[in-house]
Amino acid sequence: MADMMKALAKTKPGVGLELIDAPIPVAGDEDVLIKVKRTAVCGTDIHIWNWDEWSQKNVPVPMITGHEFSGEIVAIGKDVDRRLKVGQRVSAEGHVIDLNSEAARAGHFHLDPDTRGIGVNRQGAFAEYVVAPAFNVIELPDDVPYEIGSILDPFGNAVHTAQQFDLLGEDVLVTGAGPIGIMAAAVARQAGARTVVLTDINDFRLELAHKVAPGVRTVNTLREDLHDVIPELGMKVGFDVALEMSGSPIAFKQCVDTLIMGGGLAMLGIPSRPMETDWGSIILKALTIKGVYGREMFTTWRKMLGLLKAGLDLQPLITHQMSYERYQEGFEAMKSGQSGKVVLNWDKAA
Ligand SMILES: NC(=O)c1ccc[n+]([C@@H]2O[C@H](COP(=O)([O-])OP(=O)(O)OC[C@H]3O[C@@H](n4cnc5c(N)ncnc54)[C@H](O)[C@@H]3O)[C@@H](O)[C@H]2O)c1
Ligand SMILES: [Zn+2]
Repeated sequence: MADMMKALAKTKPGVGLELIDAPIPVAGDEDVLIKVKRTAVCGTDIHIWNWDEWSQKNVPVPMITGHEFSGEIVAIGKDVDRRLKVGQRVSAEGHVIDLNSEAARAGHFHLDPDTRGIGVNRQGAFAEYVVAPAFNVIELPDDVPYEIGSILDPFGNAVHTAQQFDLLGEDVLVTGAGPIGIMAAAVARQAGARTVVLTDINDFRLELAHKVAPGVRTVNTLREDLHDVIPELGMKVGFDVALEMSGSPIAFKQCVDTLIMGGGLAMLGIPSRPMETDWGSIILKALTIKGVYGREMFTTWRKMLGLLKAGLDLQPLITHQMSYERYQEGFEAMKSGQSGKVVLNWDKAA
């Protein structure tokens, strides 16, 4: 094994990422070394690319970025006691936690306040090799291809958000048809919602949603008013549950306005700045609001693989697949808004 690898890194403060030669990392005693096969570009990677305020505060440089990945185990640390094998096809939870934290000891792994992110606070997966704690490794079933393995992380956000409220037979609103919103709409359909309405202000994404979540009623809220859609779909008052997945204050307000009294609002989308809101409506409607972070370790992962097995097809969400060498094009596609998931292939270029 050569001891150098290709990697996409933020080498210094500023915009962009650079393809560099970096040493192949070494697995610690409780880690595994993974030969990366596919990585997906996340909104977080775009923030890091743009070197926005959040990245400047949270991402030390130099840093190999990327956290959505799949690959094959090539080395296992000497103290790993999970039944993992060299050659095994895997993905991994990108949130690395302290198993001694109060939250972890209480069994709430995803609520460790000192969570560190692969590709954010520790070396990431946009590389030929990545190290992950064995604890974080997810074994991929044979029938889950590597490209789907690489988008399980955001799929997990969608599933975890969709699980916050009972969707069976309910009228569900999803705001924001980014990759996560589209997947959440598909999950809500699969979970037996009565109706699923998905909003965005980008027609490309609403079109794409029909391929991943057939039967979803899409609404471009620049052209159509949700209040008109409610009677059209036979709802008497409004939605039972809303999943906010845009981070837009306008979409948040539309959720509050169109939920029924006593409705549930799960919030995954992160507003870019503090957001003013009409608390009076929230209180007088007796809404339940839940903030949603990450995925549950590891229940969400088990449910995701279950949903795939049950026939949920995420393939159409992947609109771009290319060699890592064409990463600039991949990032451009993501930034344009004219994409679903963009997947980089880390197999050796021909
Ligand atoms: N809480 C967490 O743990 C967590 C994890 C991952 C992502 N996120 C957040 O979840 C959100 C969704 O992630 P993504 O990767 O799909 O993001 P994305 O940026 O690709 O998608 C957001 C979508 O919202 C749309 N949008 C903008 N304004 C809107 C409006 N007024 N009404 C409806 N839609 C509108 C955009 O056009 C875009 O398609 C983002 O805000 C992201 O930061 C949170
Ligand atoms: Zn991500």
